[in-house]
Amino acid sequence: MKPTKGMIKVTTGYERFVHWMLAVSCLLLCYTGLGMMFQSLNFLGVIMGGLKGMKIVHNYTAIVFAVSLVLAIKMWWKEAGVFVLPEDLDWFKAAGGYLWHVDKVPETGKYNPGQKMFFLAVAIFGVIMALTGLIMWFPTILPAVIVRWMYPLHALGFVVIFAFFFVHLYLGTIGNPGTVQAMINGWVTRAWLKKQHPKWLKEMEHEGTLDVYQGDDSTKTA
Ligand code: HEM
Repeated sequence: MKPTKGMIKVTTGYERFVHWMLAVSCLLLCYTGLGMMFQSLNFLGVIMGGLKGMKIVHNYTAIVFAVSLVLAIKMWWKEAGVFVLPEDLDWFKAAGGYLWHVDKVPETGKYNPGQKMFFLAVAIFGVIMALTGLIMWFPTILPAVIVRWMYPLHALGFVVIFAFFFVHLYLGTIGNPGTVQAMINGWVTRAWLKKQHPKWLKEMEHEGTLDVYQGDDSTKTA
């Protein structure tokens, strides 16, 4: 997917690297976790040499997930982790224009309140997953009465993140055409930016920080 003239850069290589490290590790954890949790899904472990192999992949992928989670929280908490009132509340009241007709959807910045909610769910429940997982990995570090609680908490974190993931997958791809490029090569169209993040577009225009593709290898600020 080569960018065409006039497209705008919305993510850095570092942002995309952290996103995919988080996404791939998270999905591999969901896959191996489901495979271990339900007997009927044990077959998912066949490609990893069985249940034992799946457990090893799960535990070590969790380290990659924990590292990428820390990097993602550090990178995104200011833009995606803080609600701005009352404008974010107005966006929620209009459901972002996704569920019924809204004449004028409140303008959003780099991340809309729905995306903020997803980020916060991943950040909060991701930390819960990492901590509960660590305790289950080394159960003797705490009394059994506490360790016992880690299992339902770990399952709860999975349900929340997994459910949100499908909404994220839909909205990041077919639900909003042109979005997935933001996480593939970083280039999006001006029309997409105007529709999805109009306030951010205005801010970048005002600050003169728009990175516009000029049609060759060079990019220039316009
Ligand atoms: C494999 C399928 C996935 C696709 C196609 C995908 C796509 C995207 C896209 C296109 C964006 C940028 C949206 C925008 O700027 O408007 C984004 C952002 C983000 N993604 Fe993903 N993603 C996937 C999986 C995941 C997973 C598994 C996680 C977390 C565990 C995740 C966490 C995030 C976060 C935290 C952001 C930034 C804030 C937000 O949009 O909520 N993504 N993703």
